[in-house]
Amino acid sequence: MKDQVGVVLSNREVSRDLFLLRLRVPYQMRESRPGQFVMLKVGTSHDPLLRRPFSLFKVREREVEILYKVVGKATSMMRDLRDGDTVSLMGPLGNGFQPWGEGETPLLVAGGIGLAGLGLLEEMLPEEGFLVAGFRTRDEAPLELIRKRNSIITSEDGSLGIKGTVIDGIEMLLREVGKTKFSLFACGSRGMLKAVSLFARSHSTNCQLLLESYMACGVGACQGCVILTHSGYKRVCRDGPVFSSDQIVW
Ligand SMILES: Cc1cc2nc3c(=O)[nH]c(=O)nc-3n(C[C@H](O)[C@H](O)[C@H](O)COP(=O)(O)OP(=O)(O)OC[C@H]3O[C@@H](n4cnc5c(N)ncnc54)[C@H](O)[C@@H]3O)c2cc1C
Ligand code: FES
Repeated sequence: MKDQVGVVLSNREVSRDLFLLRLRVPYQMRESRPGQFVMLKVGTSHDPLLRRPFSLFKVREREVEILYKVVGKATSMMRDLRDGDTVSLMGPLGNGFQPWGEGETPLLVAGGIGLAGLGLLEEMLPEEGFLVAGFRTRDEAPLELIRKRNSIITSEDGSLGIKGTVIDGIEMLLREVGKTKFSLFACGSRGMLKAVSLFARSHSTNCQLLLESYMACGVGACQGCVILTHSGYKRVCRDGPVFSSDQIVW
């Protein structure tokens, strides 16, 4: 884990309210694992006081990409970053995804901005791996960032791909590929993760979830990010953010 200053190389909108921030960092980030995150702070003012967690979307030697959605104070400040500006970032943090098992086909399931948490894993997908990415509507989908091969896109209003949710996308995939033993890797809203988790349970499928929660320290010290699991309260930042879906109490 390193505390470092990142220099903005580019920061551009890739779909409505979704931005791709590319940073040059002084230390190697190559050892980062899919699902890990950084705690990032923009500017030096006390508002917002706390760093914010963001998944590592892509990592190249001394370059890091973060895919983020503008939702509040910190992410609005990120949107205003220009080339050459600096941010402070700490990471890589947390436990990433465990690899899929022998004989399993990986299936990534992204809900909206959940795509950000699966970026590093997507790079490791074998040819037969799949992605189902769901959005509410077409203008929320960063099409240039979605792999072309073996991908199914869904939209709730039917303006892009299959009309429906990621569950409709997964069901369609199962019908198309027949008997395949999948291993699911999902990131998205809590409601979507719960639906994917129930689906995995009813199909006896291994499933890992990248969970979000409010974070203060990001390193396991404050207990601010705890969630309830079947083995007690766990810190999303230190024990996660990736959990096996059958661990979570919904
Ligand atoms: C491990 C982890 C990885 C993450 N990776 C990414 C990522 O790659 N890209 C990305 O865009 N976002 C990611 N997030 C979420 C991101 O941290 C928040 O969107 C960000 O902190 C919002 O900061 P803000 O100051 O702009 O918004 P705030 O002003 O803090 O909040 C604005 C609104 O967003 C809601 N909100 C803020 N944080 C969360 C949260 N964690 N869960 C649910 N609702 C929330 C608030 O309730 C409020 O309505 C991640 C979160 C975690 C825990
Ligand atoms: S954010 Fe402090 S313990 Fe997780």
